[in-house]
Amino acid sequence: MSQSHESFNLLPEQLTSWVDEQLAASLLHSTYQVRRLFHGRSAVIDAFTPLVVDWLPPVAVIRLYDDIDPKVLAQLSSYLWQKEAVQGVVVQERGRNRNTTFVVAHGEVDQQIVVQEDELSYQLTPLTNQNSGLFLDMRNGRRWLKEQAKDCKVLNLFSYTCAFSVAAVAGGASLVVNVDLSKRVLSTGRTNHQLNKHDKNKAKFMPLDMLKSWSRIKKPGPYDIVVIDPPSFQPGSFVAQKDYVKVLRRLTQLTTDNAKVLLCHNDPTQDSAFVKELMTQECPEFKFIARLEVPEDFAEPDIERSCKVLIYQRD
Ligand SMILES: C[S@@+](CC[C@H](N)C(=O)[O-])C[C@H]1O[C@@H](n2cnc3c(N)ncnc32)[C@H](O)[C@@H]1O
Repeated sequence: MSQSHESFNLLPEQLTSWVDEQLAASLLHSTYQVRRLFHGRSAVIDAFTPLVVDWLPPVAVIRLYDDIDPKVLAQLSSYLWQKEAVQGVVVQERGRNRNTTFVVAHGEVDQQIVVQEDELSYQLTPLTNQNSGLFLDMRNGRRWLKEQAKDCKVLNLFSYTCAFSVAAVAGGASLVVNVDLSKRVLSTGRTNHQLNKHDKNKAKFMPLDMLKSWSRIKKPGPYDIVVIDPPSFQPGSFVAQKDYVKVLRRLTQLTTDNAKVLLCHNDPTQDSAFVKELMTQECPEFKFIARLEVPEDFAEPDIERSCKVLIYQRD
């Protein structure tokens, strides 16, 4: 596997040292943790802003949001491939107006792999799913929820593969209700709970369009914690600009008196004031508590372009 004589003269030192540092940081108690190795916008190297490298141990996934020089790309995949821990390198092309494609550049890559974050396991699909099954930038949100969840009833809206639910049950939640349009992602959510040997009665799965299903969602409540982590722009299902407010209008009837809410907004073009203003307008009885820090492997110079994760509590 080693290609130690390979020349990497097209790769800026800032890029390779960033990758090396993040790879080293991902090693915890002799297990590699899932992590972003390079976040183009963080490192602010002009030619590399469309580039992301994710480390889904043992697979490195290069995500290209726009074309980069093919020679540079070849050097980058070789650079990753010569790392001892890397058993496969995938190149994913994506971005607005581009079909998402996957190519295995080096090694062998399984359709499904299991990765670790903290002491929890998640099933990922490095070759098929645009986001591989886990949003790595939400690590601090999952940690927060795990700390808060003891004996709580949690509503996980836009649950995707139920990563928040896994963290909540690990933290002692009495019940998590997961709601997502897609049966497929909820089925991965079930698998994620099984991988962590969770009691199957602790998580419920509702394959519903939440904007049309409030009475069914309300039934198992009221909830002590609500997680709201929607897409920014999924026409036909949810468009934050017009639909976020519809979810917030339901918060009061869904929650207990001291309920906490974790609200996310992932649109780099809108700052946290978008969510804060909606909360003031629609849910005045909820008070802003904190904004969670962006994980260090995602930190951007302009914090408002990063994912916004806000905590509120009903007062
Ligand atoms: C950004 S992902 C959520 C990520 C997730 N919270 C996590 O931590 O991994 C958005 C999810 O919202 C779901 N979704 C979009 N519109 C929806 C709607 N109207 N009702 C239910 N789910 C919806 C999509 O199917 C997708 O799985």
